[in-house]
Formats: sequence, structure tokens, C-alpha cells
Amino acid sequence: MPMFTTRHIKEIDAWLEEARLRGARIGLVPTMGYLHDGHLRHVAALQELVDRVVLSIFVNPLQFGPGEDYARYPRDLDRDLALAAEAGVDAVFAPEVAEMYPTPPETVVEVTALGHLLEGALRPTHFQGVATVVCKLLHIVRPDWASFGQKDLQQLFVVRRMVEDLNMRVQIVAVPTVREPDGLAMSSRNRYLTSEHRAAAASVYRALRAGLDSLARGERDPWAVERVMAQTLAPVPDLSPQYVTVRTLPDFAPPAAEVQGRVALLIAARFPEARLIDNLVVEVTSDGAREIVP
Ligand code: PAF
Repeated sequence: MPMFTTRHIKEIDAWLEEARLRGARIGLVPTMGYLHDGHLRHVAALQELVDRVVLSIFVNPLQFGPGEDYARYPRDLDRDLALAAEAGVDAVFAPEVAEMYPTPPETVVEVTALGHLLEGALRPTHFQGVATVVCKLLHIVRPDWASFGQKDLQQLFVVRRMVEDLNMRVQIVAVPTVREPDGLAMSSRNRYLTSEHRAAAASVYRALRAGLDSLARGERDPWAVERVMAQTLAPVPDLSPQYVTVRTLPDFAPPAAEVQGRVALLIAARFPEARLIDNLVVEVTSDGAREIVP
């Protein structure tokens, strides 16, 4: 069957209605487009769980703050449609801003504590924008499953929490971060990097691995683990770390005196032209530490 493509809510609704009448279970991959292998991994993950995969492409103005990259965020719908079709996506929903927000919304989804830590502290309205658009997309598509990437770990936990708090019926699948051969986490924003900074960007992953290695060697002092990660980043020219931290999950709180249980190592760092975020999720026990999927 050829891939169905639309910019309109009424049309995706009609397509979904027909798919459901045939008994199809629906999966949603929400994206902002400029697809890469990471997104395609989401499609593959959902193809294991459902009968029809819908991929949404929408650069959501609500989640960008003033001075952020909304206007220059990479967009290439034709390329995205070709990649989606090749991956076996069944329908693409790519609305215009006026379709999603015919008038500025009066009603938004506010994310309290979790929305104001780390990414939320640096980007104060970001998670409100994310939660609002994800809530809308989930209402429009009403999927059985939706996928969110581990790369945006805090977003994954914000969405899980929203689904729980608001009794939404969807099930969320977490898709592990897909990396370039040198370890850099795939992101549509990597294309902003100069070639020099692109080569240096893998230091973020190296720093996370250094943190994980120190936990595996028995270090349990969160400050010491953070110091090891920060020391890996310190010599990288032009890179300004914004946070380099160990947090407990699911609340992203700083650990008490000792690192124990399920924790995240998280880094956000800026080159002048692009911001990088990445993380590892680790299960820390009395006899070791191993990377896990959250
Ligand atoms: O992760 C993203 O690409 C976006 O934040 C999302 C989930 C599609 C919401 O706009």
C-alpha cells in the first residue's frame, strides 16, 4: 500500500478511522522532521508492536524559546517523505502551524517540577510546549503505542508522567539513542556543527562513558563522577558545558550522598553554533554499574 500523506487533521482522522475498522493497532512516531537513522529506529520499534505506523512531522513553535532555533530548524519534507516511505511508514501527518494552532492556545499542559529542572531550567517554556503538542498529537492520532527517544531523556520522562497523570490510554516505548560511529548521538541539529566541532562533539559521549567507567570501578560519590565527566570535556576548545550531572530516576533529583539504583548521567554543552545533549542510564548496585534502557 502506498504511504498516505496529509497536512490535515480531518484527513488523518479519516485514514485512521478506516485502519481501525480493519482492526489495525496504531503506532505514532512524533518528530520534528529532518529524519535520520534515529527516527527510523523508532519506526522499526513500532513496527514490532502495531499494524500501522503514523509518523508526524511538525516543528512545534511552542517548544522553542525566544532566540532559539525555530526559524532555522532544518526542514526538508520531500526528503523526509522519501525516507519514511522507504522505512515502511504507513502514514505521514505533517500539519502546518495554522492546522495545529488555528489561534494561540488558551489551554496548555504545564509540567511542574520535572519541567523546570535541567533542560527546563535552561529553556523555561520548553516542556510546556512539548507536553502540549504531544498531548494534541496523541488526541489527534489516538495511537495504541507512541515512541520517544532516550536521547531526550527528560522529555521521555515528562511524556510518561503526562500519560500517567492525565490517564491517557497510549503506551510509550523508549527507543535507545542511535549513535554515529564515533559515539555522537544522532540529532537533526548536528548539521549546525562546523567540521571542527563535529569532530570534537564525540567528547560528550566519551565524557559519559568516563562517568560510567568510574561507577563500574566502584566510585559512588556523585561529585567525583561528575568531576570525571567534566574533566573529559574541559580540554575541548569552544565547548561550554551547561550541566554535567548525575541524577536519580524518575525524578531527576541529585542523588543523596551515594549513587545507588537507577540513575542518569546527563550532559548539555554548547558549541557557539549548536547545543548538544546526551545521557546514559545506569543501574548501580553494590557490586557494579551497567548501562540500561530507561
Ligand atoms: O523530540 C522531538 O522531536 C519533539 O520534541 C517532539 C516530541 C516531536 C514534540 O515536538
